[in-house]
Amino acid sequence: MADRIPEPRLQQTIAIIGCGDVGSTLAYTLIQNPICSEVLLVDPKTELLEAQVRDLGDATYGGRSATRIRAGTHKEAGQADIVVVTAGAKQKTGESRISLLTRNLHILSSIFTDMAPISPHTILMLVANPVDILTHFARKLSGLPESQVLGTGTSLDSARLKGILAKKADVAASSINAYVLGEHGDSQFIAWSSATIGTSPFSLACPNLLSAAIKREVSEHTRGAAGAIIAAKGCTAYGIGNVAASLCKYILYDSRTVRPLSFYQPALGCCLSMPAVIGRKGIVRPVPVKLDETEQKELEDCARGLREVIAGAEE
Ligand code: LAC
Repeated sequence: MADRIPEPRLQQTIAIIGCGDVGSTLAYTLIQNPICSEVLLVDPKTELLEAQVRDLGDATYGGRSATRIRAGTHKEAGQADIVVVTAGAKQKTGESRISLLTRNLHILSSIFTDMAPISPHTILMLVANPVDILTHFARKLSGLPESQVLGTGTSLDSARLKGILAKKADVAASSINAYVLGEHGDSQFIAWSSATIGTSPFSLACPNLLSAAIKREVSEHTRGAAGAIIAAKGCTAYGIGNVAASLCKYILYDSRTVRPLSFYQPALGCCLSMPAVIGRKGIVRPVPVKLDETEQKELEDCARGLREVIAGAEE
């Protein structure tokens, strides 16, 4: 039964807003790993949209996927089980994610105008950048309950971190538990003090990886991963497409998986990534994480920076 194809959940729709590199890669990942009956692609660039739908549709007709793909309107998307927002300007070489804010906030607000009224049961997943700030504003723009609005946040950075550490420690990435927390951006930090290999803390399992030089190297590598990929190929798509597709599955299957996700942190006054249980209702609950003094300071600095950007955008 190794190649058994999971039945897509009956009558469940995932709408993807934006059919560029990230949106189309997410759509492709969803039809290759069917978890829903329908993927709805939405984009004002009608010619590109039609071409993407045709090309992706062709990938479903070989019999492997029961998930159907079609072009839709923003209004229809507003009734989907999950709405994933990938639309927006993307980073150019050397550009920070924050620099996209003005353009992408404008796009985000017109998306919500066009989607209204959004179903009260929709789970909203932000992927476009700067994801933490857009998640913050999407809460207000959507009017959805706090738990139903989340951003992919540092789940991708954490996957990258695991990949880097796996090579250094010579174990499978799936045997490493380590989180990048805070901003999906330059002020992110690694929660080294809670990282484990199996159930053993790094200080026991591989203390050599905790030298200041290695920690610096690993965090620079993780933080700079997207920039390096963008410099060479103009975008990132597979990594984030895979992360977003996995999160959709955890939601539709109510799997209660723990991931670092961007959601509103009342104590910090902004959205940033902290571990949470994710399920059919979105953020089921936060999972408290013990930070050491340095990490706590990094978290507070990160939140301060994000609050300043939010305040600037609200002016
Ligand atoms: C990245 C984009 C999604 O980190 O921000 O690949």
